[in-house]
Amino acid sequence: MGEVPRRMYASVIRPERYGPPIGAFRTEVVDVPTLGPRQVLIRVMAAGVNYNNVWAALGHPLDVVAIRNRLGAKEDFHIGGSDASGIVWAVGEGVSDVALGDEVVVAGVQWDERATDIRLGADPSTSASLSVWGYETNYGSFAQFAVVDDYQCHPKPERLSWAASACYMATAGTAYRQLFGWEPHTVRPGDPVLIWGGAGGLGCMAIQLVRQAGGVPVAVVSSDGRGEYCVGLGAKGYINRTHFDHWGRLPNITDEAAMALWLKGARDFGRRFWDVLGERKAPKIVLEHSGADTVPTSMYVCDNAGMVVVCGGTSGYNGDVDLRALWMRQKRLQGSHAGNMRQCREVTTLIAQGLVDPCLSLTFGFEEIGRAHQLMHDNQHPPGNMAISINAMP
Ligand SMILES: NC(=O)c1ccc[n+]([C@@H]2O[C@H](COP(=O)([O-])OP(=O)(O)OC[C@H]3O[C@@H](n4cnc5c(N)ncnc54)[C@H](OP(=O)(O)O)[C@@H]3O)[C@@H](O)[C@H]2O)c1
Repeated sequence: MGEVPRRMYASVIRPERYGPPIGAFRTEVVDVPTLGPRQVLIRVMAAGVNYNNVWAALGHPLDVVAIRNRLGAKEDFHIGGSDASGIVWAVGEGVSDVALGDEVVVAGVQWDERATDIRLGADPSTSASLSVWGYETNYGSFAQFAVVDDYQCHPKPERLSWAASACYMATAGTAYRQLFGWEPHTVRPGDPVLIWGGAGGLGCMAIQLVRQAGGVPVAVVSSDGRGEYCVGLGAKGYINRTHFDHWGRLPNITDEAAMALWLKGARDFGRRFWDVLGERKAPKIVLEHSGADTVPTSMYVCDNAGMVVVCGGTSGYNGDVDLRALWMRQKRLQGSHAGNMRQCREVTTLIAQGLVDPCLSLTFGFEEIGRAHQLMHDNQHPPGNMAISINAMP
């Protein structure tokens, strides 16, 4: 400890392997990166699996290596992984908050603390300097060692294993910001909340967080098994989205027949929400990440003066909005990205206190990083959050 080894094993993506995740990751030996001021070298014990490294493996919508090369980076590879638990192994100049040997969990966004917008008072997670560690930046957690900024480190919940500690931060921090970060649209006791992908990484965190705040979560899923999982976490009930077929982009508003058909689908979905909720109330907040397929429905079913809060676009980025519903019913369409330091600390406290479960589903070995991401790409992964054993025993 304190000495930085010269070389390390890493699971590496290279542009020539961009494509299905199963073939994109390969174990290589690479140089351990050097530490700058206020940076920390983490001996990674376990890593979390997130959708962003499905995108990194595909090389789409961002070619992360090419973008970094254009900005001056010399590495022709990507080491992904935006979630980690581990041990502080070495510290750069000026690090004060953590010390050698500390057991930490790592939050997955970085910013430049000297950025003008931050100095002028912006929430750092909205800074123009923001980037996602282990996706937009290199040297993420799929390696024996990772480099992070000191403020990314939070105390590891003592009661949890390395894998359980590594699996939750990106999804939990993001869901926490979506649900509590956008005043006055924060979850209040009794508020119905619609949660897409309730059994997924974001969804399983969101269901528990809504319950903690006294709200009433209703999950959307693609199978009854996943729905039952959501009920087990505290959802009032679930909607099986395979019973509907009005997904995708809105028809042209002037095509009355197509629009009537779409409206019927959206209304039926809204009625199903009432049935599950047990009363005729619309969701105050809709937690969105599924994108083009679902945004029109989210906007339609959201309550008057409610909020659809979007942190992703798994099914595509053209999320059509019928502006009439937006202004006449005074709804809010809000973008949301990751969690800031306070939000990550607060959600970690809830998890450390046992009030929210990190929902670790499966822990994979180091050579199975591609397989874990392929399962996620194919939507075949088990409910909850997945982890990878790195230096920890599987
Ligand atoms: N901006 C951020 O900070 C941030 C952070 C975390 C994640 N994200 C993004 O959020 C998205 C979800 O992440 P995650 O970790 O929750 O992934 P996940 O574990 O794969 O869960 C997503 C769930 O969405 C559902 N889904 C997939 N395709 C759908 C579709 N076409 N329509 C409706 N539901 C669909 C699936 O559930 P069912 O099949 O059961 O419905 C799936 O379980 C990804 O795009 C990711 O990049 C963004």
